[in-house]
Amino acid sequence: MALRFERVSLSIETLNAEHGTLSMTDSVLLTKRIEFSSSHRYIRPEWDEAKNRAAFGLCYNPPAHGHNYLLEVTVFGEIDRQTGMVVNLFDLKRVLLDVIEEFDHKNLNLDMPYFKDRIPTSENLALVLWTKLAPQPDIGVLQTVRLCEDEDLYAEVTAAAGLDVAAVTRRYSFTAIQDGKQGCEWDCFITVRGPIDPTTGMVTDIGALDRVVQDKVVQSFDRQDLRQVFGVQQVTGGQLAERIWNSLASDITSGHLVNIRLVRSRDLFFDYAG
Ligand code: NI
Repeated sequence: MALRFERVSLSIETLNAEHGTLSMTDSVLLTKRIEFSSSHRYIRPEWDEAKNRAAFGLCYNPPAHGHNYLLEVTVFGEIDRQTGMVVNLFDLKRVLLDVIEEFDHKNLNLDMPYFKDRIPTSENLALVLWTKLAPQPDIGVLQTVRLCEDEDLYAEVTAAAGLDVAAVTRRYSFTAIQDGKQGCEWDCFITVRGPIDPTTGMVTDIGALDRVVQDKVVQSFDRQDLRQVFGVQQVTGGQLAERIWNSLASDITSGHLVNIRLVRSRDLFFDYAG
């Protein structure tokens, strides 16, 4: 059996916010998750080893490395009055299984025609999966393809932003004292959007992003009392997200910053988008 794990997860949200409540004529977004495994390697054959290592770091290591990808596919449609469904979930599951089968337990560099001339980064793989899913007649209107490489990195292609760009989100963590009591752990999700570089296959240089976040965010706030850092009596999560945005926005040189999400717990998070 090819697939390691398959999971149904639905998140339904009304798009007609002005109505306030969900009625049977509302359009909704529906997200389904599915997991598959592939291996890949980042390499430009025309570059020497030093240049490949400088650009791709550990991802250049031969022969390849594997990921358990989590694919989240969001479709859009009106709820069918007779079935109560946006799309038939059995059809959606069948289409996803059919599409994923081609990629599961494959070496993306060697086994896939899509990556003969482009590096199988998460951004490029998300875009390829979009082109495979979008024409499918039984899954509604495709809105978002989010491909999670692991818990710390995902790439996203959306209808709203257009297919000439992609977004990558990277997770960082630090512990900070916020209210004078014990330190609390923050997960900070930083999203950068831009065109996929045809040479590197990336929206932004992840190594450079890691360095600037380490320098401007982690070193500034980790194990610090935020009231002293900010010079105020109380620091909210929203203020912290805004401070992180302001300290990063001008230092991201490829792609542009589109969102900061600070997660304090599963019940409490803050978004800041400039
Ligand atoms: Ni990888």
